[in-house]
Amino acid sequence: MSRIAYVNGQYRPLRDASVNIEDRGYQFADGVYEVCEVRGGRIVDVPRHMARLQRSLRELRIAMPMSLAALTVVLHEVVARNHVHYGLVYLQITRGVARRDHVFPAPGVRPSLVVTARSLNFEKNQLSASRGIAVATVPENRWPRVDIKTVALLPNVLARQTAREQGAYEAWYVGADGFVTEGSASNAWIVTHAGVVVTRSAERGILAGVTRAVLINLLADLQIKLEERPFTPEEACGAAEAFVTAATQLVMPVVTIDGKPIGDGAPGPVARRLREEFHRFSEFS
Ligand code: PDD
Repeated sequence: MSRIAYVNGQYRPLRDASVNIEDRGYQFADGVYEVCEVRGGRIVDVPRHMARLQRSLRELRIAMPMSLAALTVVLHEVVARNHVHYGLVYLQITRGVARRDHVFPAPGVRPSLVVTARSLNFEKNQLSASRGIAVATVPENRWPRVDIKTVALLPNVLARQTAREQGAYEAWYVGADGFVTEGSASNAWIVTHAGVVVTRSAERGILAGVTRAVLINLLADLQIKLEERPFTPEEACGAAEAFVTAATQLVMPVVTIDGKPIGDGAPGPVARRLREEFHRFSEFS
């Protein structure tokens, strides 16, 4: 079965779907994106993803290509046309097509919109969670506006590749101050021996993850204490547990950092419970 993509007003087989070579997303990474989890054929936390999308667009002064309602219809249509039961839906908006010039194009240039969806292997994801993942630390080298979910992901690509070459799944950025900011495509968390869950404040240095926000609601409900503060890789190595969060990972236990085991080197009970109960505070549509 051929996958279907939405590209600027048309649903097309993926192999025929293409964008103009002068699209500013292609030439300058001048665009933003969102990734939502699909579960049971429904999209998870659309309003939160849409709110972050609108904020990213505002910060970069890119117009919405269509109304929120219409965009939501397209997301659901792409999920349905690709028969995704469990997986992800990806959307990307760029500043549009114009002759290459760093300055913004004329106001009439329409933003480009691409939406794709694909199935993921649920069992494989669960197996990773039951084993836990390895993390490798890398120096923070991104621009300061990591709060914007832009498609300019070259430092993230290089960090993830470095991790992979060291036998790790995810990379954790460590700032010049010695503190972990976040993962190359996830937020970073630890659990102290006192059972306190710690993650960096979303005010600076990280992307405000949707999964992070939902998890904070769950922590409150479970009366698990949360501290929003930075931590170092050394504190993480000495912690009881560590995990990462992202739309397609949910709560994914981390069992080693730079080859050093965390706790007993196996996923811990807090991460396991948070993963199991995660969707209690998600919105499905
Ligand atoms: N990444 N931090 C970064 C740098 C990310 O790229 C992501 C998500 C997150 C977690 O955000 P959320 O919980 O909203 O997924 C944090 C997506 C999944 C990606 O790039 O594929």
